Amino acid sequence: MLDQAERLRELAYGNKGRNKPRIITITSGKGGVGKSNFVVNLAISLRLMGKKVMIFDADIGMGNDDILMGCNARYNVFDVILNNKDIREVIVEGPLGVKLLPGGSGLNNVEDLKEEERREFLNKLESLEDLDFILMDTGAGINRSVLAFISASDDTIVITNPEPTALTDAYSLIKAINHFDLKSEVNLIVNRIMDEEEGKLTFRKFHGAVNRFLNINIKLLGFIWEDRRVMMSVRDQKPFIMKYPNCHASLDIKAIAKSILNNGARENNKGSGMKEVFKKIFNIFS
Ligand SMILES: Nc1ncnc2c1ncn2[C@@H]1O[C@H](COP(=O)(O)OP(=O)(O)O)[C@@H](O)[C@H]1O
Ligand SMILES: [Mg+2]
Repeated sequence: MLDQAERLRELAYGNKGRNKPRIITITSGKGGVGKSNFVVNLAISLRLMGKKVMIFDADIGMGNDDILMGCNARYNVFDVILNNKDIREVIVEGPLGVKLLPGGSGLNNVEDLKEEERREFLNKLESLEDLDFILMDTGAGINRSVLAFISASDDTIVITNPEPTALTDAYSLIKAINHFDLKSEVNLIVNRIMDEEEGKLTFRKFHGAVNRFLNINIKLLGFIWEDRRVMMSVRDQKPFIMKYPNCHASLDIKAIAKSILNNGARENNKGSGMKEVFKKIFNIFS
């Protein structure tokens, strides 16, 4: 039976009280810092906590989340837009029922899409609303499509590692987010730490620089230890959170998943949903 609150939500939103998914963009300044491994294992971790999750692999032309999950993606989102494929045919099922929507290389050409193609695609996205989380795995670096995803999503996570090269690039990315006023807050993850001290020191320095020169809030979402199980699981194409559920990296990601769930405990946990996100992205590119 529906409780009172749910009835009210139903009246207010007219969508049978279904939650709109919360959209989180995961990005980085430098490539190879661990975005995709984080996204795939976070998705499974949220699944283990009972959430419905979809990954949108938006790393243009370089997406490899399907490989990390050991499944094979044949189509991408552009087959939905241009080749009239059903969105359910394009989405692949990963471990524990985590869904994956491959972005393909066409995301580069969003501005070339006709008005009608955009509208039809937006309508098709409505069938995706029954999700709790959509995790967007973007490419590295500062470009229009990455900035569009950041601006269109509910939350942004920037991943770096403690190396000065990665930190400099993360700083430049956050500077751009600040410059274009895309977000007032960004979550940071320091991946591949050797020990807790290194993580804390890295965050303190980074936070200090951002506070001094930029007007944006940096929140520490967590550390992930350097862990050879990560490499082993990439080679096996089996996410470490499943193969080595108690390894350092798995425990770190589970803790991060928990704090994402807690942070999201806003009223009704309403996110913007995939249709809203693409609407915004199309607006940015038109
Ligand atoms: N916590 C970690 N410990 C050890 N190696 C890691 C860790 N995170 C990432 N790596 C290594 O970095 C490689 C690149 O990670 P990936 O997730 O593909 O990065 P990105 O998506 O940012 O390009 C992985 O294949 C793995 O070998
Ligand atoms: Mg990647």
